[in-house]
Amino acid sequence: MASRFDPETREALLARVRFYRDLGLTDFYRRPVDAALLEKLAAAQSAAAAIAEPVPVAPALPPVPEPIFQPKSEVAKAEIAESAVPNLPFAPLALTEDVSAEETLPARAVIPAPPAFPQALDAVPPAGRAAALRIIQEEIGDCTRCALHTGRHKIVFGDGDAAARLMFVGEGPGADEDKQGLPFVGRAGQLLNNMIAAMGLKREEVYIANVVKCRPPGNRTPEPNEAHTCSPFLFRQIEVVQPDVLVALGATAATYLLGQRQPLAGLRGRLHSFRGSKLIVTYHPAYLLRDPRQKKEAWADLQIAMRELGLKPPARG
Ligand code: URA
Repeated sequence: MASRFDPETREALLARVRFYRDLGLTDFYRRPVDAALLEKLAAAQSAAAAIAEPVPVAPALPPVPEPIFQPKSEVAKAEIAESAVPNLPFAPLALTEDVSAEETLPARAVIPAPPAFPQALDAVPPAGRAAALRIIQEEIGDCTRCALHTGRHKIVFGDGDAAARLMFVGEGPGADEDKQGLPFVGRAGQLLNNMIAAMGLKREEVYIANVVKCRPPGNRTPEPNEAHTCSPFLFRQIEVVQPDVLVALGATAATYLLGQRQPLAGLRGRLHSFRGSKLIVTYHPAYLLRDPRQKKEAWADLQIAMRELGLKPPARG
């Protein structure tokens, strides 16, 4: 049946319906409006407004000394010299060691605002980005900054083209990733590969990383103190790769990139920004495996990314 709305109005109305559906209201558009329903809607609206409140800002980070990075290995030194990257923007990581010790989690977890970078950074030119990423990896080292290190086998740093125009951000490694040390290599990864192929790209042409780099036990959602400890490394990866478009896969990635927690339905379907990159929020592939009906909506989100990148889906055949 043809819609009586123009596509934009229709999409806006559908987004609204999805939003209310996420709040547990699934039948309001089928029934005549009555007072009880209006009350329910008002309650949902104020609940949504409460959720959307700006989250408290994390305490200021300590001042950062000179932005001089000391590569540890000879290989990294040689690569930096070779790529002649001017003024590599790496200061020693401004993380307080006591973040996790001090942080007692309130009932509604505080999502810290992404830490501010100490200074305006020079962009790393494309030829130096792989080396720059290796420097971040070296700095992570054999990390013991949060409790996740106790159960991990491998740190999952990231994978793909260091100068990619498109970057995906997931939540954290699962069992397969923990074994192989690479992001998105399990079942969810296969679906992500298909999504990337549907966009007309190869996996090697994008960059993929996670909010936390060690597997949370039982694949649970990372705790805020774990994400807070690890995400500055992700932010640095993004600063280096400088993707035109970032895709946040699922609520955890969206929360820590946007610095606020909101229902996914309210974030999907439109452009946000993160430090100079356009940001799209969509469903996590693991969620799409559980509820494949949502793939259509995820595809609509990816099409926004494609539009921004000037990509057309490959011809079928
Ligand atoms: N899920 C994620 O969020 N990241 C991975 O790397 C794999 C599964």
